Amino acid sequence: MSAVLSTHGLIARYGDFQALHGVDLELHAGESVALIGANGAGKSTVLRSVMGLLPVAPEMVRLAGRPVGGIAPHRMVSEGVAIVPEGRRLFRGMSVVDNLRVAIDQAARAGARGDWTLERLYQLFPVLKQKARAPVQSLSGGQQQMVAIGRALLCQPRLLLCDEISLGLAPKVIREIYAVLPEIRAAGTALIVVEQDVGLAQSASDRLYCMLEGRITLTGRSTDIARAAIDEAYFGVRHAVA
Ligand SMILES: Nc1ncnc2c1ncn2[C@@H]1O[C@H](COP(=O)(O)OP(=O)(O)O)[C@@H](O)[C@H]1O
Ligand SMILES: [Mg+2]
Repeated sequence: MSAVLSTHGLIARYGDFQALHGVDLELHAGESVALIGANGAGKSTVLRSVMGLLPVAPEMVRLAGRPVGGIAPHRMVSEGVAIVPEGRRLFRGMSVVDNLRVAIDQAARAGARGDWTLERLYQLFPVLKQKARAPVQSLSGGQQQMVAIGRALLCQPRLLLCDEISLGLAPKVIREIYAVLPEIRAAGTALIVVEQDVGLAQSASDRLYCMLEGRITLTGRSTDIARAAIDEAYFGVRHAVA
């Protein structure tokens, strides 16, 4: 069976600066893959390239084998791809439910179909039901992250891209948020989880890719990779192991 997503020599630029130097990764249905690496390694750029937020060549991104690189983000939504972007990017000044309705409308326009409804989302994150009418900026950071995840799920993705969903949150809240990922996968949705916390990334994924300066420096099954190998791939230097 062909991969849900594959990238092939993925290259991305910001003006003259080349941020990705040939990234190859693949992901199968219901699989969770972690993308780790230091600040500036290119993790968000990979997600943006897949989502159609950066211009890339068609052959560099494939969904179920079909070249889709560079097509517009709303068309990627039609193709079953959604992103929880770095920094959440919620619509401030709008209520929680109105933020979520934007995604429902977007999915309807895109012809994306699936099982996610407001009710099902409220079962996943009950606090969002209580806060449905509240302005989104009045919510805690963790609750805002739940809205951002909810908004992505209501796009009915088969592939969900999560960019540092734990950033700035308390450990208890991070556990709460990561606890929903298995339920999302159970519906057959594949996940790419960009994460700075290596332990968290390992526990939340089947496989892991480590990036350094726009390249993949290590890949393997998350439970099999030794921490020393990760450190080396992450920092690009050999660390003394006690
Ligand atoms: N909008 C941008 N304009 C110019 N350079 C950028 C932009 N966004 C990211 N970069 C650069 O691209 C590289 C990869 O960035 P990014 O993908 O955001 O890294 P990560 O998500 O791993 O922290 C970094 O060197 C960063 O400075
Ligand atoms: Mg980033």
